[in-house]
Amino acid sequence: MRQGIRRIIDPMPAAPIYLDHNATAPILPEVADAMREASLRYRGNPASQHDAGRQARRALEQARLRIAEMLGVRTTGMDADQLIFTSGGTESNNLALHGLQRAGASPPPADPHLLISAIEHPSIARPAEHLAATSAATLQTLGIDAHGLIRLDELTPLLTPATRVASIMLASNETGVIQPIAAAAEICRRHGTPLHTDATQAVGKIPVDFQALGVDALTATAHKFHGPLGVGILLLRHGVKLEPALFGGFQQAALRPGTESAPLAIGMQTALELWQREATDRRARMTALRDQFEQTLLAGWPAAVVIGGQAPRLPHTSNIALVGLNRQALVMALDLAGVACSSGSACASGSSEPSPTLLAMGLPEALVSSSVRFSLGATTTPAEIDEAARRILNVCNNLRRAG
Ligand SMILES: Cc1ncc(COP(=O)(O)O)c(C=O)c1O
Repeated sequence: MRQGIRRIIDPMPAAPIYLDHNATAPILPEVADAMREASLRYRGNPASQHDAGRQARRALEQARLRIAEMLGVRTTGMDADQLIFTSGGTESNNLALHGLQRAGASPPPADPHLLISAIEHPSIARPAEHLAATSAATLQTLGIDAHGLIRLDELTPLLTPATRVASIMLASNETGVIQPIAAAAEICRRHGTPLHTDATQAVGKIPVDFQALGVDALTATAHKFHGPLGVGILLLRHGVKLEPALFGGFQQAALRPGTESAPLAIGMQTALELWQREATDRRARMTALRDQFEQTLLAGWPAAVVIGGQAPRLPHTSNIALVGLNRQALVMALDLAGVACSSGSACASGSSEPSPTLLAMGLPEALVSSSVRFSLGATTTPAEIDEAARRILNVCNNLRRAG
């Protein structure tokens, strides 16, 4: 297929254009510099009692505090929340789901339930299925409307006294649609169900305030906002019980044992500080670029549809159905044309299955089979957007001619 596609497109253009920031947003130089300095400076194990260890501990705890403050976490007093460092979004999601499900009232109800939305990332959907299968729990799924928004009116009837945990993402990695999580949290609180939100795609893109959202637990990961790969966090509201998924040392109150990394924590802190410093500008710039990009594609390919375009969306995510074309052929041809994009979640890519998110929205097959996700980053320029749109339309026309 690749060979065939190679014949019908331009020779490889000089500069590749990266529009797959939802898969990973490349580390910014300032972040890499801060991590390099921290790696050389903090050489001890933060759990060690000697001076080198204590220095690393101080740096680590300072980074923990700064990240917590920037995300609206309560950091002082008897009712302070917790920030647990993990290896990334997948681990935080697994820890939240397993940990909240297992920590519920004891003895567990005869027929325990857990609830997730129909558009969760595989790092929530798969552990939820695993939990249901191994703990004889009933897995319930909250539906999605055609705009990509959760059906909030269906939440109350789905919650029962046996629902031990609910997990609903804050913003979709595929469509960028932002969910009404504060309203969902209010409903869950009334029913006594702990609510976790996967905010992996929202943190560092839109303001996220843990306290204001009212959730019990929240996942974020640094590499989605130009921080380092390999570090994530789970925020945990004061008083919420969580069972660990790993067992070992006493680090992080034994909720996530293992040697903590000051350089990774400092990298995450630096990336979040850079976002916070430029937040208003970055959002405005990305929204303008995304809108310009979508308008050019819609003008050049009139059958195109912006998926989730009628709902509140992340500023940098554009999921477009280039109706009449095949999404996998498009992604491959665009790669050869020097535009990096994706046909869905990076964790599911390589799979030829249609996107569960788009299916959950009830979209027609013509949209599901032709949808491609483009995601912008802090360094994306207007010139790149113009050139990417030109290359995309060129590829679309060539694919159509090739038939
Ligand atoms: C919504 C969402 N949750 C979780 C993850 C997993 O994060 P990580 O790659 O840090 O494990 C991703 C990554 O694609 C994501 O988009």
